[in-house]
Amino acid sequence: MKSFKHKDIIALRDLTKEEIELLIETAEGMREINSRDIKKVPTLRGKTIINLFYESSTRTRTSFEIAGKRLSADTVNITPSSSSATKGETLSDTALNLLAMKPDIIVMRHAVSGSHYYLAGKLPNCSIINAGDGAHEHPSQGLLDMLTMKDRFGRLDGLKVAIVGDITHSRVARSNIQGLTKMGSSIYLAGPPTMMPPGVERLGNVTVCGTMKEAIQDADVVMMLRIQQERQGKTLMPNTREYSRYFGLNPDNLKLAKPDAIVMHPGPINRGVEMSSYVVDGDQSRVLKQVENGVAVRMAMLYHVAGGELE
Ligand code: NCD
Repeated sequence: MKSFKHKDIIALRDLTKEEIELLIETAEGMREINSRDIKKVPTLRGKTIINLFYESSTRTRTSFEIAGKRLSADTVNITPSSSSATKGETLSDTALNLLAMKPDIIVMRHAVSGSHYYLAGKLPNCSIINAGDGAHEHPSQGLLDMLTMKDRFGRLDGLKVAIVGDITHSRVARSNIQGLTKMGSSIYLAGPPTMMPPGVERLGNVTVCGTMKEAIQDADVVMMLRIQQERQGKTLMPNTREYSRYFGLNPDNLKLAKPDAIVMHPGPINRGVEMSSYVVDGDQSRVLKQVENGVAVRMAMLYHVAGGELE
C-alpha cells in the first residue's frame, strides 16, 4: 500500500515519484464522484478549509472550493481586496489569526516564492497547500497536467514534453519539470532568451532549445504558457506580434509534433498570442480536460493532507 506522510503540499520537488503516483491514482478514483448525479461524499465532513488567495485566480480557487465542497468540508474564501492585508497586516499575523479559528487546511496563493514554507513553519497543526507561490511552484497544476497526459498516453514515462513561453516566471513550468522528470519524461524548453532562466537544465532531464521548432519536433505534449507580464519588472520582448511569430502555436507548427500529440495550457489563455484559436479549440487541445481533472486532483490533495489512506 502506498502512503502519503506529508502534512503539507508545497512543491512537487518535495514529493517522491511514489507519492506523486499516489496523488494521481487517488485523483483517478475521485473522478467517479464528479460524474455522479449527487456529487458529494462525506470524507472531509467536519473539516474546515480556508482558501487564502493573495493573487487573482479563476480556475484554481474555484476548483479548490468545489473540491472541498464535494468532500463535504466547510470552505471559506478570503481574497486580498477584502482581507486585512490591505490594512497592513503581515502574512504571519493573518495566519495566526486564521489559525485561532481552527482551520484544518489552508490553501494559499501568494506572490512571494517560498512563503508557504514560512507559513507551514508557523502553523504546525494545520495543513498548507500551495495554490501557486510567485514563480516557484504550482503543484496542483503540475499534478492535473500529469493526469491529463496519463489519460492520453496511459503512462508518464518516456514522453517528450515541450514547454514553450515565459519559463523564468512560470511556476507551472517548474512544477511540471519537477514532476515529469521524476516520472521519467524528457522536457524540452523554448522561449525568448530573456524569459529562459539560466541553469534550468540542472532541474532534471531538461533541454533548452534554440528555437520553438526544435522543442515541439516529435513532441507528445506541447504545453504553452502565458507571458507573466505581472511578474516581469520590465518588458522582455519587443511586441506581442513578434512574440507569436517565433513562439506562438498555430496549426502549421503543431504539425511538427507527433500526429497524436496533445496541446495543453494552464490558462488564462491570450488567444492569438501564445496560441491561435484554431489550436485552442482544435481536436488536439486538452485545455478544458485539464480544468476538469483539476477538481479531482485537488480532491486527492485535500484527502491526503487530511490523513487519508488508499487501499
Ligand atoms: C497559472 C498560474 O496562476 O500560475 N494559472 C493557473 O493557475 N491556471 C498560469 C498563469 O497565470 O499564466
